[in-house]
Amino acid sequence: MNQPDRQKIAAALGSVRDRTLELISCLSEDALSRQHDPLMSPIIWDLGHIGAFEELWLVRRLGSVSSESELDAVYDAFRTPRSERGGLDLAAAERVVEQLRDVRQEALRRLADVEFDVANPLLRDGFAYEMVREHEAQHQETVLQTIMLMTSETYMPTSRRGLPSRGRASAGEMIRVPAGPFHMGAASIGFAYDNERPRHVRNVDEFEIGRYPVTNAEYVEFVASGGYQDRRLWSETGWSWKEEAAVSTPMYWEAQEPSDVDPVRLSRERGTDGWQRRTALGVEALDPAVPVIHVSCHEAEAYARFASARLPTESEWEKAAAWDADSESPRTYPWGEEPDGTRRANLDQLVFGPAPIGSFPEGRSSVGCEQLLGDVWEWTASEFTEYSGFESFPYREYSEVFFGPDYRVLRGSSWATRPEASRNSFRNWDYPIRRQIFAGIRIARDVR
Ligand code: AVJ
Ligand code: FE
Repeated sequence: MNQPDRQKIAAALGSVRDRTLELISCLSEDALSRQHDPLMSPIIWDLGHIGAFEELWLVRRLGSVSSESELDAVYDAFRTPRSERGGLDLAAAERVVEQLRDVRQEALRRLADVEFDVANPLLRDGFAYEMVREHEAQHQETVLQTIMLMTSETYMPTSRRGLPSRGRASAGEMIRVPAGPFHMGAASIGFAYDNERPRHVRNVDEFEIGRYPVTNAEYVEFVASGGYQDRRLWSETGWSWKEEAAVSTPMYWEAQEPSDVDPVRLSRERGTDGWQRRTALGVEALDPAVPVIHVSCHEAEAYARFASARLPTESEWEKAAAWDADSESPRTYPWGEEPDGTRRANLDQLVFGPAPIGSFPEGRSSVGCEQLLGDVWEWTASEFTEYSGFESFPYREYSEVFFGPDYRVLRGSSWATRPEASRNSFRNWDYPIRRQIFAGIRIARDVR
């Protein structure tokens, strides 16, 4: 067996860190330390937590020391829930960045002479290093959610990326996936989270699934037709949530004109032209070809019913994304085995929003679905539960404590996800009412 490559590991950790620092470099001390929304942590909490996690797994757990550090409680997501993190007496940003650097230095020192013992599952294939890298990448997405909610200052990132020129695409196109068994989940070698394992055979009936995620143009028709007022389209919990939250458009939509206008009338009279969207970088016109983003699972379900469809199960989603019927094996990414964050998917964060449908034809899956990774997370009909044969590893608080009916699975990834935390078998989860996450919709239908 090959020994993991220490230089590659160090470079990979370095590159995720560069991005973390790049994303926050334009933010003031106030923006970094303030709790912008009760749903999110102060950004310096995320930074401190990234360091505490790295120190736990790459320093203490790989060494023989396992003493508690005084920062453990503060940066433990369970001991200090998000809503309380605004009241903490956290170190100043500069100090937190110093701590990040110190922890990294220590982690790299240990990496230099760590024994990659294949009998130690934390070290086999460099597991702990990849886990720490993906953890930091995932917290970057969390930080980007926080930046979206920040109103105290304008976000002016040091770099941005444009998109490939858009292809021609017709929204609403469906793809038929034949019935039959496929292999779901991550292989037992290489890195994956415990909840992606074990790989197992599943059978699904024939179904249809959207070639693309649902666009703003499609969604505005739902608004225009009075979808938010039509009780028949909503589940009971969805309806009560919507009534209570007084929601009538996706989060971050704003009327173009001074705006006491009725959203239904505005959508009916002007379509997407009536609306603009607030992004991290400011306000922009609502692009009809761009996937709708910042909808709850309840809105996704109501939209699907409006379109005489439903949300895909996560088995259906993964089959459409991963299964290659010719080789009878699953692919790691929809397009194959090669990681990619810019050419075949919008995964680089620096676009700061989803790309129009048709932008990534080379990212299509074996059955022909596009934009499965990148752009928007996709709500599914599935609760977050363990695969049969699940074994918690390396800690119960990553997945196991969340299994159950409270959470819905989201599949794919968004424009704010790093490529290293994006693959066909990756399972995300959240409460069905959440909208600050970068979530959208792909619909499915039974085939009769
Ligand atoms: C997989 C996105 C639901 O942010 O709660 C970060 C990822 N786990 N630190 C979350 C995670 C521990 C997790 N999600
Ligand atoms: Fe975390």
